[in-house]
Amino acid sequence: MCTLRVLLLTVALAAIPSNTETISVRRPTEWWQTATLYQIWPRSFKDSDGDGVGDLNGITSKLDYLAELGIEVVWLSPFFASPLIDSGYDVSDYLSVNPAYGTLDDFDALVARAKKLGLKVVLDYVPNHTSDEHAWFNLSRHSVDPYTDYYVWNDGISVNGTRQPPNNWLSVFNSGSAWQWDETRQQYYLHQFHVKQPDLNFRNEKVINETKNILTFWLDRGIDGFRIDSLPYMVENIDLLDEPESGLEGYTETDFYYLDHIYVKDQPENYEIVRTWRNHVDDYSKSSNVTSTRVTFTEAYANLTNIMKYYEYGSHVPFNFFFIKDSEGVNNAILDTADDVVQIITQWMTNMPEGGTANWVFGNHDNSRIATKLGEGRVDAVNILLFLLPGVATIYNGDELGMTDTYLTWQQTEDPQACNTDPSRYEYFSRDPERTPYQWDNTTSAGFSTNNVTMLPVNSNYLEVNLAAQQSSDVSHYKNVEALIKLRRTNVIREGSLDVKVLNDSIISFSRELKNEEPIIVLINWDNETSSTVNLEVFENVPDNLEVLIADIHSGIDVGTKYVKNEISLPPNAAIVLRRDQTSGSGAIGSSDHHLLPLLSILFITLIVNRFFNCH
Ligand code: NOJ
Ligand code: MG
Repeated sequence: MCTLRVLLLTVALAAIPSNTETISVRRPTEWWQTATLYQIWPRSFKDSDGDGVGDLNGITSKLDYLAELGIEVVWLSPFFASPLIDSGYDVSDYLSVNPAYGTLDDFDALVARAKKLGLKVVLDYVPNHTSDEHAWFNLSRHSVDPYTDYYVWNDGISVNGTRQPPNNWLSVFNSGSAWQWDETRQQYYLHQFHVKQPDLNFRNEKVINETKNILTFWLDRGIDGFRIDSLPYMVENIDLLDEPESGLEGYTETDFYYLDHIYVKDQPENYEIVRTWRNHVDDYSKSSNVTSTRVTFTEAYANLTNIMKYYEYGSHVPFNFFFIKDSEGVNNAILDTADDVVQIITQWMTNMPEGGTANWVFGNHDNSRIATKLGEGRVDAVNILLFLLPGVATIYNGDELGMTDTYLTWQQTEDPQACNTDPSRYEYFSRDPERTPYQWDNTTSAGFSTNNVTMLPVNSNYLEVNLAAQQSSDVSHYKNVEALIKLRRTNVIREGSLDVKVLNDSIISFSRELKNEEPIIVLINWDNETSSTVNLEVFENVPDNLEVLIADIHSGIDVGTKYVKNEISLPPNAAIVLRRDQTSGSGAIGSSDHHLLPLLSILFITLIVNRFFNCH
């Protein structure tokens, strides 16, 4: 009978709920660790002066809207002096505002208004390259010191008496060689992006010093941090080695991904530079009695190992692009099944270094909009993931409305990445479709501008898809985002543990749980054809009776709908957020007694059985 006791004890131990799937989340200690970051594309957000181009005063006029929505941080994509070859990511003066967008005074007014509203402001900083119209480049091409070595210059090689670039490196913008011959200097310069975006030489200490001065200039104007651009491209292999072919299908010899970028991307020297900037920003905060942390968000499309290095080298938030790009940061992410989505979540959570803050990005100015890429039926599902997973959430302007990509003809296309291809392929490469004017209302140019002619055409769906319509409707993507951001501010979402599972093969589910708080449960049917009924008994602490707190607008499920936890039916694509039915008894997760109950009852049974069989 002793065998029976041992057996029963074993059963008792096995009955202790296993915590292996529960991922704990650190209690936030800094403002940015649970921030909601809203990316503004200045050119298309709001035009204040009727020239058809967005501007800083336009942005300022809409900050109240963002504060009302619950946004905490606005990130402004580049508004600096620029010939706008790459929409402002080609900066000709880092310390001045492009007159098309306003003045430095306008910028100061924007920051002042933001501060009044409790909003933080983060600027885009583009260190890898300047515009070829930047004063430094002009001085460098004339070999004027100290600017002579500010850029990456090279004599090239002679092949059968013909001058050629030093190696086979290709431009990211699919225009062929990344080297351009400069008649003035009689040398090639490197441009990893557009020919009008020469790469700075990050092996030159003077260049690093210049970058710090730029950061200081904007910190002095009261901003709260930077989103730092294109980090994988800063330093290149010093021996200028040729890159091997990638073997990837669908790319021609002049396309960037024709080669495998082992010498122009992700070089070890890049990370130390990130550390330098982080230290600089920290030192600034210390020396100027700034009490709140200035934050660095870093942009790098790379594989998981390389992305995680940015945490180690000081980035507060290395953007998590794995919902956008695949594991190598090249092809589009595969999000076909619930499992694909859950894998991306757990991969990030379990690979972050100790103490790291998670973050999630589904859209930005470089990628097709969510409503187009994943379907309008998944807009709410994506926003539920974005706002209820732990850490920082980044949303691109317009995605709160489910704005879609705008079809643009070859003639209307401006993006160099597309213009360098041809009319049969440009759509695949173009980033203009996600950059068209923000749809405020159903008036002229969607309320973006009083001008009929705008920077890029307004999407023809603006009569239905616009903010005013969604604000006045009882049920809309916007209303759901508002509710999600509100929920996101509760303790259970800020610091609750995460238990994420795939149910019935097609349901993405997770719970957020915190001691003494009621858990929040998310269910998303990722199948767009088949309904599915789930049983939530697989989650430890889910109360028996539940109610819907937020429902996606196409689910046909109303907020307030009640469910019993072992039978919840979800139509195709439906996404819901659940909590305890507020009309039933308390559902807060108590202290450890909850976990001990099954153990104690089985031990009790063991004792009785023992007694009965008189086992010694
Ligand atoms: C990354 C930016 O996000 C993208 O829009 C830009 O074209 C490249 N950097 C080059 O500056
Ligand atoms: Mg304007």
